[in-house]
Amino acid sequence: MRVVNLIQRKRDGGDLAREEINFFLQEYVAGNIPDYQASAFLMAVFFSGLTEQELLDWTESLLSMAPALDLSDLPGPKMGKHSTGGVGDKTSLIVGPLVSCTGITVPIIAGQGLAHTGGTLDKVQSIPGFNTHLKAQEFKEVLRKAGLGIIGQTDDLTPADKKLSSLRDTSGSVESIPLIAISILANELAGGIEGLVVDVKTGSGALVKKMTDSRRLAQTLVSLGKRLGKKVISVITDMDQPLGNAVGNALEVMEAVEAMRGAGPADLVETSLELAARMVSAAQPDRTLESVKEQMFQLLNDGSALQKFRQLIEAQGGNPQIMESFELLPNASAEFVISSPRAGYVSRISADDIGQAVMLLGAGREKMNAHIDAAVGIVLEHKVGDRIQAGERLCTIYYNEEAHLEEASQMVEDAFHISSTQPEARPLIHEIIQ
Ligand code: URA
Repeated sequence: MRVVNLIQRKRDGGDLAREEINFFLQEYVAGNIPDYQASAFLMAVFFSGLTEQELLDWTESLLSMAPALDLSDLPGPKMGKHSTGGVGDKTSLIVGPLVSCTGITVPIIAGQGLAHTGGTLDKVQSIPGFNTHLKAQEFKEVLRKAGLGIIGQTDDLTPADKKLSSLRDTSGSVESIPLIAISILANELAGGIEGLVVDVKTGSGALVKKMTDSRRLAQTLVSLGKRLGKKVISVITDMDQPLGNAVGNALEVMEAVEAMRGAGPADLVETSLELAARMVSAAQPDRTLESVKEQMFQLLNDGSALQKFRQLIEAQGGNPQIMESFELLPNASAEFVISSPRAGYVSRISADDIGQAVMLLGAGREKMNAHIDAAVGIVLEHKVGDRIQAGERLCTIYYNEEAHLEEASQMVEDAFHISSTQPEARPLIHEIIQ
């Protein structure tokens, strides 16, 4: 079998057989296919797509490379939560603790930031001491102790996805519906879950921006899940402006903690409660959605989720004191304020541009395995729909290096649109597909 023939066939819209997909994945992971051929192959998939059979074959091939985590001796249902990626999306840090407060085990196998979007893995790694490099059995002990855990892709659970995702990230093929669906299901199913809620983002800050494409991704996740014998619920949520106010790894951990103290931004809280409620109700189908939602609201506001988050940090070796003392998290050395050039309404905040600006400040990777700066980011002072005065602060940029500040601040300024009329509000939850 020659790799170049597979690339050419996919490039020209042809189908691949199961053995050919297996061959490509096995040989790439073994280091026998160079990155330049693998990137060309992924780019061919980006343009030509995959058939339903290829989707299934690809995911099963990834899953066959390592046994999934066996959580059968842990009590209660096991539910996963994943996001297709957004800007300021720290919902996993809130949803995981909330859901696990109900006795459901939540194993989260998280990814690094991709393209302009942030990754849950990068966020928790900003907590001093928090160890995401656990072996499968160590992860299981964390789940037993805390009821939830967050790790990155590991060689003993998901040997291929880390390599493939990093390659996609640095070679421009992240935004592919079949590759996103495969990556999410292969990661999550390796964690031994029984069901999964996927937050499918739509809008300028999402990897898949148009509603029609987001719906297609949501449906692909549900149908691929079904073929793999797992219940998947896709919740299509808004990502046209950043979620919450904070964008940047440590800043987002701080905001998640605030939200679990009952003081989170309304959009972040509403989205997190909806996702958590969908997970619990999938695991406890006899209850009404309303009663589950009430319970989630209570657990968020009575300190239970916060307590669970503390247990998670402790179980993974992190310093739980960060919850009372944010100065123990990485903090940037300098600030730069962006003010409004005129009075009016904030009519749009391009999440894509905000995400790109935060990457420029150092929060994202230009190359595979590059170091990122966990302290940098942006905190929004206003969101879409707010009335503002000329000269009023729109947001603050937190940075360490001057090098890209000028370019990043220009991008942030351009991301804010100010108009004389109040814009129509977009819904936070667009659709549920199951
Ligand atoms: N999340 C993933 O795990 N993979 C993707 O490709 C996109 C979002």
